[in-house]
Amino acid sequence: MLTQTFSKLFLFILILFNSNLFAEAPDPVRGKNGMVVSASKLASEVGIEILKKGGNAIDAAVAVGFALAVTYPSAGNIGGGGFMVIRLNDGTTTTIDYREKAPFNAHEKMYQDSAGNFLPQLSQEGTTSAGVPGSVAGLIYALEKYGTMKLKDVIEPAIKLAEKGFILDYRLAQSINYNYQDFLKYPSSKKIFTKDGQPFVEGDLFVQKDLAKTLKLIAENGRDGFYKGDVADKIISQVQSLGGIITHQDLGNYFPVERKPLISSYKRFEVITMGPPSAGGVTLIQTLNILENVSFSRLDWGSSNYIHTITEALKFSFADRAKHLGDPDFYDVPIDKLTSKKYAKELFNRISERAIPSDQIAPTDFSSTFESPETTHYSVIDKFGNAVSTTTTINSSYGSKIVVEGAGFLLNNEMDDFSSKPGEPNQFGLVGSEANKIEPGKRMLSSMTPTIITKENKPVLIVGSPGGSTIPTAVLQVILNYIDFGMDIQEAVNAPRFHHQWIPDQIDYEALGLTRDVMDNLQTKGQIIGTERTLGRVEAIAIENNIYLGATDPRGFGAAVGY
Ligand code: DON
Repeated sequence: MLTQTFSKLFLFILILFNSNLFAEAPDPVRGKNGMVVSASKLASEVGIEILKKGGNAIDAAVAVGFALAVTYPSAGNIGGGGFMVIRLNDGTTTTIDYREKAPFNAHEKMYQDSAGNFLPQLSQEGTTSAGVPGSVAGLIYALEKYGTMKLKDVIEPAIKLAEKGFILDYRLAQSINYNYQDFLKYPSSKKIFTKDGQPFVEGDLFVQKDLAKTLKLIAENGRDGFYKGDVADKIISQVQSLGGIITHQDLGNYFPVERKPLISSYKRFEVITMGPPSAGGVTLIQTLNILENVSFSRLDWGSSNYIHTITEALKFSFADRAKHLGDPDFYDVPIDKLTSKKYAKELFNRISERAIPSDQIAPTDFSSTFESPETTHYSVIDKFGNAVSTTTTINSSYGSKIVVEGAGFLLNNEMDDFSSKPGEPNQFGLVGSEANKIEPGKRMLSSMTPTIITKENKPVLIVGSPGGSTIPTAVLQVILNYIDFGMDIQEAVNAPRFHHQWIPDQIDYEALGLTRDVMDNLQTKGQIIGTERTLGRVEAIAIENNIYLGATDPRGFGAAVGY
């Protein structure tokens, strides 16, 4: 105890007096031919094996996607959705949107009672919260269009991991057991995520035979192995037995969409990121555009002026998100205006020494709360220079917590990302409006921000994060750390972060992120200090002098693997 107190004190003193805060970050992992960084070491190794066999970054990313469904079940998935940003070595850029969709029978007020009260237990829990899964269709689409290998070969490693099992390490056992009580509620989940009702322990062999069977059906039959036949029957039976509304038609009609990426500049760099139905890219670009007007050489990293300036920029971007962002197939999102340099300059000009209260940016009559979330990001680059940045999610940690009986995978609870009632915050405290209201077949708005940055036509950074509403702010800060403050990629990922999302009007921060005097100064400027919590888990690759530098986030338990 005394030692702990002493070491905390020591760290505190170190931070106060040492200007090079992150000198202790380990060196990034180096590779000349390929790099995979994901939230699971086993999954990163799968990706590297595919690269070593001659696969390209898309082959590896798809293999990692399926492997994460086995080795990182809190967020890796086949029962959810995601976004993949691709930049090929010839400069071609594209994105695959395999975000879940609202079922055909969904309607605007499905999560409200007759008096109009929001019912988060329906949008966040159980099969009522599930959107139509997109991951399998999206990964297969990416592979068929941009990969070089056969589906069965990229799924094979995931099948083996599920069938033969793997040893649970301390962190994964702990993560599964954190949700133990929920898993006990559903027999299909209890079967997979407990040992006959007892919690798993570190060192146990974790075998998932049902999931292996499902993966084999996908390997043999492609998307039909999931959206039709036995697996589809099992999904529908599980969903409907618990009052959910997904039908066979919903599954059969699910298709991913290939969309143009959002492309913008930040100083001498090009930013390639995900557009709607993710809000992440717009928020990132809008904020970077505002901050492009700042001379960071005159702002000390971590100082109150630095945090104040970024906070003000974030307030504008998040207020616009709440008003304007939704599925572009249903709502006309004013992307050009939101991402224009001119608009950013106008917003920048409104930033002063004094914090603008959130309700003076846009009307705010909402409250806001947060819950523990889960999503996962992975970054891949191959020896040819093809780069892939993918973020995927089942929303909450272990999604709806409901495993599809006999099929061995978890259903998402993504419907909560819709704005179930105007002004009512979802589990990330995010509010929305008309743009993100529930409609049949619509995709719920996301914050995921898979991003690739290039300079002089060469990739220099592949980055992304989980963390719900904190995703774009985490990605933003890693980019600033790397580009503007010259940190190496591991330092940039490790550095403590802060977050503001307009509503609630508060700055959340990580342990050691805001020193006492910085907090005091921020309060003097009118900022409100919020909660200490972990913000994001970034998995990043930097490319310097043709060397790939991988950095996994110490907030998680993933791995960068290179060769
Ligand atoms: O798409 C989104 O924005 C959310 N469903 C992401 C959830 C998430 O990042 C939770 N992660 N920690």
